[in-house]
Parts: sequence; structure tokens; C-alpha cells
Amino acid sequence: MCGIIAYSGHREAYPVIIKGLKRLEYRGYDSAGVAIFNQDLQVYKKKGRVSDLDAYAQGQDLHGTVGIGHTRWATHGEPNDVNAHPHYSQSKNIVLIHNGIIENYASIKQDLLNKGYSFHSETDSEVLVNFIEDVQQNVGCSLVEAVRLALQKVVGAYAIVIISKDNPGQMIAARKGSPLVIGIGEREFFVASDATPIIEYTNEVVYLDDQELAVIEDGELHIKSLDSIEKTPYIHKLDLELDAIEKGGFEHFMLKEIFEQPKSVSDSMRGRINSTEGTLLLGGLIEYINRLVSADRIIILGCGTSWHAGLVAEYIFEELARVPVEVEYASEFRYRNPIIRENDVVIAISQSGETADTLAAIELAKSKGAIIFGVCNVVGASIPRVTHAGAYIHAGPEIGVASTKAFTGQLSILMMMALMIAHRKGTITESRYRKLLVELEQIPAKIEQCLALNAQTQYIAEVFKDVRNFLYLGRGYNFPVALEGALKLKEISYIHAEGYPAAEMKHGPIALIDEEMPVVFIAPHDSSYEKIVSNIQEVKARKGRVIAIVNEGDTVIKNLVDFSIEIPYTSEELTPLLSVIPLQLLAYHIAVMRGCDVDRPRNLAKSVTVE
Ligand code: M6R
Repeated sequence: MCGIIAYSGHREAYPVIIKGLKRLEYRGYDSAGVAIFNQDLQVYKKKGRVSDLDAYAQGQDLHGTVGIGHTRWATHGEPNDVNAHPHYSQSKNIVLIHNGIIENYASIKQDLLNKGYSFHSETDSEVLVNFIEDVQQNVGCSLVEAVRLALQKVVGAYAIVIISKDNPGQMIAARKGSPLVIGIGEREFFVASDATPIIEYTNEVVYLDDQELAVIEDGELHIKSLDSIEKTPYIHKLDLELDAIEKGGFEHFMLKEIFEQPKSVSDSMRGRINSTEGTLLLGGLIEYINRLVSADRIIILGCGTSWHAGLVAEYIFEELARVPVEVEYASEFRYRNPIIRENDVVIAISQSGETADTLAAIELAKSKGAIIFGVCNVVGASIPRVTHAGAYIHAGPEIGVASTKAFTGQLSILMMMALMIAHRKGTITESRYRKLLVELEQIPAKIEQCLALNAQTQYIAEVFKDVRNFLYLGRGYNFPVALEGALKLKEISYIHAEGYPAAEMKHGPIALIDEEMPVVFIAPHDSSYEKIVSNIQEVKARKGRVIAIVNEGDTVIKNLVDFSIEIPYTSEELTPLLSVIPLQLLAYHIAVMRGCDVDRPRNLAKSVTVE
């Protein structure tokens, strides 16, 4: 949940670290800090954004070619200067940055208190750095060995980087459950939570595995397991352009990412679909395709937006592939004792590939013998590394905290999976299969048409920007889109918003309707059209104000509602790929008009690596 960047090489470390922290700020932004080694360890940390840290650090001695930096999303202790990372050990010989949670920190802390240690912060991370120092003093070993021994006793998740006064040229990193990537340049190394701060310096990276410890020293990288088994670093070549992680002229990453969707959805299909030849191939699934085709049941796991994509998939898989589907919040699934049978398969959806609840749910399902397929965006993240097979969505880096292009990428992949299974099972006709392939290929161009609605959406946002509540209603494939529209609005504008199946309105939410309550209906011309027209009439009869997402040329709904937004026609199963676009734009514009920090909404972080 926090962002980590460390540098060791021939450059000045501070500029590399500050720039890296800005790139990682999406992971957490309540405080930030750096430690630079220059004859001694200098630590500067500050509550607030990376820019606050940078302003504070100016004028201080920032020289040094080895350093570590951290941007925090608070878990233990409120966001303030003291709880910010890096943390010193008691002797001030060691400094540490940490992403994750040390679950047994309280008992370790008590032991250290009994030995006379004192603590300045409320963090589990300060406990860890002191624990390492204590182990080193007791055992009389090297710092690397002390880190290894200490981590063997730690319960929880961590990605850590450590530097020390006694070993000025040495940097130690380790991970379990939280990501770490090591960039390898010319006589220089970078360690980071993801590749975004590294890419402008090198495209050669090593992904550290769980329970591995890396030591950078004398221009060399050595990796070993916590059991002391030496590992040969496997160097990956990154396929990531710098443009992809910059705003490229857009005011916010979120807007850039909304507008990237024609390309990102097209990229999700590239080399996989050929409607002329009627072929569809997700290469990553081939090895296990028979398990998918013969599955008695599919269980879909995810959180937030990824869970919403899973809900759309439930409708699609059941309709096309005629297989029962259950969609589970990973955060609930993992704490139950779920029933997994021999012929069940699990699909885990995650943009980041790091969500702690989804990872834990996967481990649980695996322990019960399930085959797990991953649908992820971040290449090399933890989830794709623990699943049996899967497909990347290839949306490119999603930096805005509100997920947008990942959602449409996930839908595209899930639709292709459903079609692949349905075609092999023979549960759809050849003509319907072919038609859906053609429609899918046309989606990027139709998203482009939806994006042309930006100015109209902005106008509607102006009308509703000051309301306190919003209701989103949809049916069938568009019920999950109603949930997603409400989530987008609440997370970035802080307006209370609820999504419901439109037919459920009469069972409770209708009591909320009055002239103050805007209701967004997702109402394309599909099999529920007449029903949803009735629902709109019920809202209008109670003086609710209605914004409707309709198909081009719709006149019936247009005449009933206050505002209508017209999206192109596509097959019913594919409408979520289009209907979500104006909802993303609406949430974006309302949030901007309310002065909210769209890319870094309060209390949130991009990857939720805590439970
Ligand atoms: O990286 P993941 O897809 O696993 O993340 C899941 C949720 O944390 C994420 O979708 C979250 O709800 C977003 N802020 C939604 O915009």
C-alpha cells in the first residue's frame, strides 16, 4: 500500500528518489520521507505529499549516491512526521522503509521494550528495524544475516529496504506478500514497489520473489532465500514506455486513462481475435482449456471495480457458456470455509495483481485444490505469479486511484474467455459467436464515440455537482455498471452514491426519491428496456431527477428524463464496455468541479496490500 524507491549507484540519489516517489505517490500519499547516506545517514520526512517533503528537504544536505525513499498509506499510527518512513534503529546505525504489515509487531515490541528499547513512532516498521538491530547485536552477525534471521520470525507482509552507517555501500531488500522490483542499470541499481520509477533509467529488472532477500554491494546483486539458498537473478526486459506513466497533456491521470480506453481495449484483443477468420485465442489459457470447458462451476474473486467486472462476467458466462458462476468478494471468501469441488475453477481478477485479500483468497482456493486463472494488468505482479494460468489485460499502467481502463480491459478479457469456452462447448451457435467477435472488434471505435460525449457529461456534472446523494440503477448486464458508476462517484467526489438493480428500487430505495435525488439509469435498448422505462416513470412520478444512458436515437426515454446521454448500439452482452464510459466521465467532472484530488482521493491508495 505504500511506495518504495531506493537507489545505489553513481548518480545523486535524492533527485532519483524524489522523482520516483512522485511516480509512486498513487500507492499512498499521507506522508513521505527519504534517507540519504553521505558520511552519515540523513533522514528527512514530512506529513503530506511528496511535494511537501521536497519543499522541506530543500536547503538541507542532500548529497549522496545511496538512498531510500517512501510514500506512506497509514496503517499503524496516524499520518504525521514521526510515523513517516524511513525509521531509524535505536543506535541510528540502520534505516528502514517498509510496505506491509508486521502482524506480530506487538509481541516483538514488548520484548524490545523489556530490553530497554524506546520507540518514537506508533509504527510496526520501527519495531522491525529495532528487531533487526537487536538480532544483530545478540547474534553478533552481519547485518544481512540479522535481516534474514529477523524476517524468519516475522509474521505478516513486507517489502523492505535497509541501508546502514556501518555498511555504507550496501543495500538490503526483502519481500513477502508486498512487491519489489530491482532495476539493473550501468553500475547502478534501483529498488522499487513497481517499475514506474525505474523505467526511465533501465528496462532490465528482476522481480524479487516472496521470502527472498537481495543484497546490492560492490556493484553486484545477490539474491538468496530466507533459508539461505542462493538464487540466480532472472532478468526481465520491461515492455513499458515512459509516455505510459506520464500525464501526456491531460490534467489528471484518470482523464488520460479514460481517454486511453479505445487503445487499451484494442490492446487487450490484439493478436487474440480475428473476426474475419472466426478465431479467438487467449494463449495463456490453452494449457488448462479443458478444465475451463468442463468446469461444473466458476468462482470469480475480486475486490472493488474488479469485483464489478466479475459480476458482468457472471451474466456473460452463464448466458454464453451455460456454466454456473458465483462471484465473491475476495475479502469475504477468504474468511469463510468455502466449498470448492473437484470440477470448479476459480478466476481471480485484479488490476494491480497485488490486492492482499485477493491473494489470500487465491491461496485458500489453491489449498483446496482449485485451478486458478488470473485476469491482471500489472505484468509480473504477485497474482499472476501464483495463479496456474491467466491472461493479462494489457491496459498499460493505471495510475489514477479510480480504476477505469482496467475495468474495460477486464470485461474484454472475460468476454473473450466466455466466448472461447462457449465455442468449444458448443453452447452458442457459430453465427452468434461470429457476430460477437465482430462486435467485440468494433468496441474500441464505439468507445471513441462515447468519449465524444465528454462535453455533454461535463455540462450535466455542472448541474449536479453540489448534490449530497446519487442513485445508480441498471438491470442485467448493466446492474454491475450501476455499482461501478456509484463507486467511481463516491471514491473521487465524496458524494454518497448507491448502485442497485433497477427492479430492487421498489423494495426500499424508492423511499429516497424526491426532487433532491438524482438517479442515473443505465437504460440501453436491450431485453429489459420496457421494464426500465417503467422504473424511470416511477422515479419521475416521485419528482426524482433522472439522467439516462440510452442508445442513439432513443426517443421514449429521452422524453421522460431530465438528461439523456446517447451511446452507440452493440450486442447486449457488450453494453457495459460502452455504458460505463459516460459514468466515468460524469464522476470525473463532478469531482474536479468540487475541487477534489481526483488522482489521489482521500484515504485511498491504488493497491490495497493490507487486509
Ligand atoms: O488492483 P485490484 O483490481 O485488485 O484492486 C481492487 C480494488 O481495490 C479497486 O478496484 C478499487 O476499488 C478502485 N479504487 C476502484 O476504482
